[in-house]
Amino acid sequence: MPTLSHAVKTPRDLYQMAKHLGMWDPAAMSLAEDKANFATLSSEKQEQLTKICALFYEGEVSVADTLAWFMLAMPDPERRMFLSAHVFEEVKHAEYFERYFKEVLGEMDTAAYLIPESRNVLMDGLKERGEAMGRAMMNGNQQELDFALTMFAAHYMGIIEGVMALTAYDYVGEMLTSVKLFPGLQEAIRLIRADEGRHIIHGMDYLRKQIADHPEYKAPVKELFLDNIKSMTLWTQWVFNPNPFGLDSERMMFLGYNLHRQRMRDIGLI
Ligand SMILES: [Fe+2]
Ligand SMILES: [Fe+2]
Repeated sequence: MPTLSHAVKTPRDLYQMAKHLGMWDPAAMSLAEDKANFATLSSEKQEQLTKICALFYEGEVSVADTLAWFMLAMPDPERRMFLSAHVFEEVKHAEYFERYFKEVLGEMDTAAYLIPESRNVLMDGLKERGEAMGRAMMNGNQQELDFALTMFAAHYMGIIEGVMALTAYDYVGEMLTSVKLFPGLQEAIRLIRADEGRHIIHGMDYLRKQIADHPEYKAPVKELFLDNIKSMTLWTQWVFNPNPFGLDSERMMFLGYNLHRQRMRDIGLI
């Protein structure tokens, strides 16, 4: 009789899937219709879409830059196999938005769009967790490294991918579909969302095992999850103010809180 563990995708299964499903090419996607759509928007709507895409772009660049630490520090060779595909996919997500700014939204300082709360969770805080793994590796301290790997996975796969990215991509994908605009961005979000699904499955599997093997990790991981829900409320409000697209902030927060609870359940925190 199959057990739950048989149904769970192993890192090697996910690596095999990535070789087929993660091979879409941002450079080959058409942006012509998106460019024409953008030109028809009011400047207020252009500004709101730009703000959302700046968060996507800066987030993707940040995760692409820091994930190499985790791959290098990861002791399990099968997880490293999957992580090599994961790094490649994050770089492609950043490449897509780099192209989107160049060809559709216009080139600008996208980092200037970040408020301190999102900058802290998406960039500075994540970088510190990467550096903590680097320090533990240099010191040869296995215990410290194991804990640093766990906290990095909780921040990266738990909060940034598992809650923030999924909420934003699901919500924005749903909104663009309903207004029938930006078909290129809709398609990219669908493809990115599928890649993120594999990243999250792998990350939650790793975290569940780490917490089961080290019950002392449960309290700090839970604290990380609960701390980040506060900043999530702040950066979400920022995207909706002003709100010329008339986006439904309650719907987005509802998606976010549900995913937050789901991730905590996935790894055995609740
Ligand atoms: Fe990504
Ligand atoms: Fe990802």
